[in-house]
Order: sequence, then C-alpha cells, then structure tokens
Amino acid sequence: MALFSSSTRQVPTAAAVPRHVAVIMDGNGRWAKKRLMPRFSGHIKGVGIVRKMVRACLERGIEYLTLFAFSSENWRRPEEEVSLLMQLFVRALEQEVDKLDQNGVRLRIIGDLSHFEPRLQELIRAAEKRTAGNSRLQLTIAANYGGRWDIMQAVNAMLQSQPEKRAGWSEADLEPFLSMHFAPEPDLFIRTGGEERISNFLLWQLAYTELYFTGTLWPEFDRSKFDLAIASYQKRERRFGRTSEQLVGEANA
Ligand code: IPE
Ligand code: IPE
Ligand code: MG
Repeated sequence: MALFSSSTRQVPTAAAVPRHVAVIMDGNGRWAKKRLMPRFSGHIKGVGIVRKMVRACLERGIEYLTLFAFSSENWRRPEEEVSLLMQLFVRALEQEVDKLDQNGVRLRIIGDLSHFEPRLQELIRAAEKRTAGNSRLQLTIAANYGGRWDIMQAVNAMLQSQPEKRAGWSEADLEPFLSMHFAPEPDLFIRTGGEERISNFLLWQLAYTELYFTGTLWPEFDRSKFDLAIASYQKRERRFGRTSEQLVGEANA
C-alpha cells in the first residue's frame, strides 16, 4: 500500500480545498529594500506571515502546508545574511513550537540538516518529537533543501535498502525514501515575489501540481491573497492526462 497517492499512478480525487499547499516564500529582500531597510527586516516580517498562513490553513481545513525557507543554493548569499537567517530559524523554533503544538500542528523540517550547527539540529529534533502526535495540520519547512538533493538521497537510500537487487527499480520503490514520503503530492504551489520558477523546490512532487505565481512580496501576502490563490486553483480542471470529456463522464457516473 502506498502511504500517499501519486498523480502519476493513482489519480487523487479533486477536492474543493487543496489538501496540500506548497509555497516558495519569496520577496523578503525586495520588500525591505523598498522601505530602505536592511534585507533582514524583510525576513523578520516574513516569519510573521508564516504564522498567519498556518492559522489560515487551520481555518480552511488544509491538511499539509510545505514552505521553502532556505534552499541549498542560498548558502551563496553573503555570510552575514546566512548567519542572520540561521539565528532567525533558531528563534522561531524556540518561540513558536509551543503554540504549534497547542494547535495540533505537526512540524517537520526537510533538507540536508547536517550542515546546520548542533544547537539548531537539536532544536529541530526536539520540535519534531514534541509535535509528532499531532495531525490537524502537517507543517513542513524545507531548509537547506534542494529537489535534486532529495531525489539523489532517496536513490542512494533505495539502493542501500536492497543491495542484492541489480535492476528493475520503479517509481514506487523510490517514493518511500523521498523527504515528503508522508504526504500526498502538493495540489497547489504558490510562489510570491514575481519570479516564475521552481528554484529546485519539490521537483519530483510538483509533476502535476497546479502552479500559481503572484507578484505580491511574501511580507505582504495575507489571507485574502491566499484565498485568491485558492480560488484560482478551484477554477482549474485537473485532468492528469485524461480528456475533459472523461472527467465530466466520471462526475456524472
Ligand atoms: C525569500 O526572500 C527568503 C529566502 C530566500 C530566505 P528573498 O530573500 O529571496 O527576497 P528577494 O527575492 O531578495 O526579494
Ligand atoms: C528560493 O528563493 C528559495 C526560498 C524562498 C527559500 P530565492 O529567492 O533564493 O530563489 P532564486 O535563487 O532567486 O530563484
Ligand atoms: Mg528571492
């Protein structure tokens, strides 16, 4: 039995509210620059928006929220910005986990965590353990995450799982080793900040996700903008390779 449904094997049933929303939170730096403030103030403001988004998902009955917080490419930023982002991450974990737990949110961090300092790794482990029993909303933060890294670590783990097997691997063999193995594939992808690219986010899982790009900078994203994205999603016809007529036929069956 698959732990999750894959759009390329088993077609998930369309729901009015997306079950899984994945977001690239972009535009913090430009938001700050517009206000003649340091880039970092945009990141601080951005954490507040995450809080609001979690609340919005709880209210709307969205089951999975996956947020791209730091890409494997973001280490290329000036050392000062990287270090401030790490401090912000630590602070957010220290301050927010109680509230997440009280609200039934299960927190997971995906990405190559081995590059983080021990204190941060410890906080991540503790937060995941603390919220492991929750199931109202599954909140996943991608940190030092890259879609290619994810696929390669999964391939390596899969190969190691059955060293005697030489060939004949399938997609279904790989999927349990991917970082998002516990979740259905995202229904809706949102990128704020105006860029229209995936930037090495969930490459495998976005195969059939509905994409939504908005020029709104992440620090200005709010409930009503989120509802616009959901409304756009609700207008899409998710065909998963089939024809429109087939879908109508099924709906009437
Ligand atoms: C997204 O905002 C946050 C991170 C990548 C950490 P940016 O920092 O990329 O903001 P812009 O794109 O420079 O405006
Ligand atoms: C992508 O944002 C990753 C995150 C939001 C964490 P970037 O702003 O770093 O993306 P690119 O490099 O401009 O595509
Ligand atoms: Mg950016």
